[in-house]
Amino acid sequence: MARPPIDDGVVLLTGASSGIGLELARLLAPRARVLALVARREARLTALKRELEGAAPRCKVLVLPADLADRASTDAMLDALLAETPEIDVLINNAGFGDMDLFELADWAKTEKMLRLNVDGLLYLTHRLLGGMVARRRGGVLNVSSGAGMAFFPGFAAYIGTKHFVTGFTEALRLDLSGTGVVVSQLCPGPVATEFEEVAGNFTGMSPPKLVELSAAACAKKALRGFDRGRALIVPGALMWLVMRAAERTPRWVRRLLLTPFARALRAKRLRSSKPA
Ligand SMILES: NC(=O)c1ccc[n+]([C@@H]2O[C@H](COP(=O)([O-])OP(=O)(O)OC[C@H]3O[C@@H](n4cnc5c(N)ncnc54)[C@H](OP(=O)(O)O)[C@@H]3O)[C@@H](O)[C@H]2O)c1
Repeated sequence: MARPPIDDGVVLLTGASSGIGLELARLLAPRARVLALVARREARLTALKRELEGAAPRCKVLVLPADLADRASTDAMLDALLAETPEIDVLINNAGFGDMDLFELADWAKTEKMLRLNVDGLLYLTHRLLGGMVARRRGGVLNVSSGAGMAFFPGFAAYIGTKHFVTGFTEALRLDLSGTGVVVSQLCPGPVATEFEEVAGNFTGMSPPKLVELSAAACAKKALRGFDRGRALIVPGALMWLVMRAAERTPRWVRRLLLTPFARALRAKRLRSSKPA
């Protein structure tokens, strides 16, 4: 089984300014030769670069601010990166966000941006960089999907759609690339304590059970361990892994039946909430 060429390699990491991506950067810097950090908030990336260069002086850290939901911004970032280092060994598509709402009430601009980032941006970056990896017979792609890419539940319809895309795409891509030397894995976490909830919004007043919630650092550690081993699907956290396995083994009609009362209660709560409809 091939290993993703992280050690002494050139790694492009998206969504490095917070959460899981920031913790991945802390684990990657001591191993990579070049680590390119992408997100929109440049000041955060610059502060992270200073921290990483102190902790891992052998790694060259590049700060590449870009809006990955915007093609022109993505192209400008890639052109700058490829001019500096033409061969990218590993791509980690981590940037993404969710939107919690009833779909008909969701802000369309936010929904569209989510699609552009979670689906289009991930697909485009992978397409731009994969050809080189295949030609060199060496590479790795880690896509950050979600438990929401394997399951369905109310309040997150469009986000769940984007993550089902990532999960299906990544599984199929992995098959297409078997035997090429390019490792393709996906990370499907349950709840992780990051800025995700703040960005997604939460009108329910409820938070994920602490029992299944992971820290971003623990999630990143398990993600890289699974990626290093060439795992197809990484579900971090023993309890979450059990929940996902049980969900997979439960017929869809049973899951629909169980989730329907919860969905109705959620709709009623949303319509009573102060969030504008
Ligand atoms: N936290 C969870 O419970 C959870 C569970 C399952 C899956 N996930 C997935 O994990 C990934 C990381 O999320 P997180 O939980 O670490 O959330 P987070 O703390 O909000 O981090 C999201 C990252 O994505 C970047 N990003 C957002 N919009 C962007 C854009 N238009 N262009 C470039 N970068 C952008 C953000 O940077 P800027 O704002 O600086 O651009 C940030 O670095 C996402 O794909 C998410 O769907 C999270």
